[in-house]
Amino acid sequence: QQPVRIAPSILSADFAALGREIEAVTAAGADWIHVDVMDNHFVPNLTIGPMVVKALRPHSRLPFDCHLMVTPVDPLVPAFAEAGADTISFHPEAGPHVHRTIQLIKSHGKRAGCVLNPATPLAAIENVLADLDLVLVMSVNPGFGGQAFIESQFAKIAALRKAIDALGKPIDLEVDGGVNAETARRCIKAGADALVAGTAVFSGGPDKYVANIKALRA
Ligand code: DX5
Ligand code: ZN
Repeated sequence: QQPVRIAPSILSADFAALGREIEAVTAAGADWIHVDVMDNHFVPNLTIGPMVVKALRPHSRLPFDCHLMVTPVDPLVPAFAEAGADTISFHPEAGPHVHRTIQLIKSHGKRAGCVLNPATPLAAIENVLADLDLVLVMSVNPGFGGQAFIESQFAKIAALRKAIDALGKPIDLEVDGGVNAETARRCIKAGADALVAGTAVFSGGPDKYVANIKALRA
């Protein structure tokens, strides 16, 4: 198994200096840049759109892992693809045609991901799992950084690990929310191979990013 990928969530970065923040976590050893897109409709918060992704794109060579918490999702897919997203993930609740949205993302040459909220069962994506490049398990309710990891999600991670292994396809299993050194270790043990972390990466400022990322891998 390959080493776990660390995806800093820029939701916890200094929004007045996003370009520099992305450069800093790239230099500090991050694997992906996680971009949380919120619409104040699907989730009770409002963040950034494709224009910001486009502006940030030249500031890192790393893949941009775009987590869309928006509804409807389909009208925004082309804009994020053109802005430089590498993976586009969406919640199955955010549109009536999950398979169609996956195909739309792929038609733009991007990797497609589905995101499972804490209360959303694996069954919600069972019939499209083989079409996905990534599944993102939410270990907090989406909308805000800095929340506590919901314990019941470890079982979902383990069940998903089994389902992915049974398919034999290289589908990434990513976890998002409340990831710190302790929960990271348990996520990896349950079968996660990519971890999103906002608070745990950005706390303490740029001087800490190397140590913060290393702590999540350990
Ligand atoms: C929550 C976002 C997460 C969040 C993670 O809606 O999807 O990416 O920023 O933040 P932490 O790591 O602080 O829980
Ligand atoms: Zn996220």
